[in-house]
Amino acid sequence: MKKIAVLTSGGDAPGMNAAIRAVVRRAIYNDLEVYGVRHGYVGLMEGDFIKMELGSVGDIIHRGGTILRSARSEEFKTVEGQQKAIKQLKDAEIDGLVVIGGDGSFMGAGKLTEQGFPTIGVPGTIDNDISGTDYSIGFDTAVNTVIEAIDKIRDTAYSHERICIVEVMGRNAGDIALWTGLTSGAESILIPEATYDFDDVMNRIRHGQERGKMHSIIVVAEGVCSGEELKKEIKERSNLDTNVIVLGYLQRGGSPTAYDRMMASRMGGKAVDLLIEGQKGVMVGWKNAQLVSPSFEEAAKGKHKINLDDYDLARSISI
Ligand code: F6P
Repeated sequence: MKKIAVLTSGGDAPGMNAAIRAVVRRAIYNDLEVYGVRHGYVGLMEGDFIKMELGSVGDIIHRGGTILRSARSEEFKTVEGQQKAIKQLKDAEIDGLVVIGGDGSFMGAGKLTEQGFPTIGVPGTIDNDISGTDYSIGFDTAVNTVIEAIDKIRDTAYSHERICIVEVMGRNAGDIALWTGLTSGAESILIPEATYDFDDVMNRIRHGQERGKMHSIIVVAEGVCSGEELKKEIKERSNLDTNVIVLGYLQRGGSPTAYDRMMASRMGGKAVDLLIEGQKGVMVGWKNAQLVSPSFEEAAKGKHKINLDDYDLARSISI
């Protein structure tokens, strides 16, 4: 292994830069040449490579987003697209690739390995929905960003005695909603992994009102429904007015927390070590507080599980 490349793909996540830095510096430390691929798989198919030096990743550990840029590509899902990418990698005499992204990106990474190109995945998505790992880079920062926003929303909700619905990201996973709902004291949390009941949401609001608490925060994961849909449902059932706040891309930006920088550094460094060892078709994961490296197939078999004990706990203490 002499030359490797690194790319970021899918939705950006805080800590991706810290992971790129770890990959580049760990590779150079091991006398490898490193190339950055711009714009994810789109750039890979176009051969948009830049040589990375120690200084190329200076002053980025604290920055959100990704200096390599990211993209989603339909063409790369085709065999032709994958072969185009492999040709670019071979023409540039690159021997291994690190893909930092979510499960969609890992699917692509798995295809490259199947077609003979050694690829390693590093989990990076705020959704924390990747199977094969308990943690994905960006989740902690996103959770902290969301609770900072909810704390502010709560001040207004309290002062004006309003009911606020906060819609958070997560695609089909409820991790962001559960963590932020529990840690911000939301009165109701709606996640796709648990059966939700609109009447229960209203009962919890009424229960609060009966004891003089007129404000309420409801956190809804985008995988359940939109904040606007929930608002409509509540209005139809109870005639209660609610305010909807969609946090959107705010959740994907910002300086990564210490935890995200740490995990990104560990995982990025491990990805390079795995390539040097001759591993391919595996992802770096975090299980039981340890780095692990399941194959993409093995990881895909198990579904990422949310902690439903935390959900029960939230329901019992946030009333
Ligand atoms: O995967 C991260 C994520 O931010 C999801 O939470 C969200 O559903 C999706 O990406 C939004 O993606 P896009 O970049 O296409 O708007």
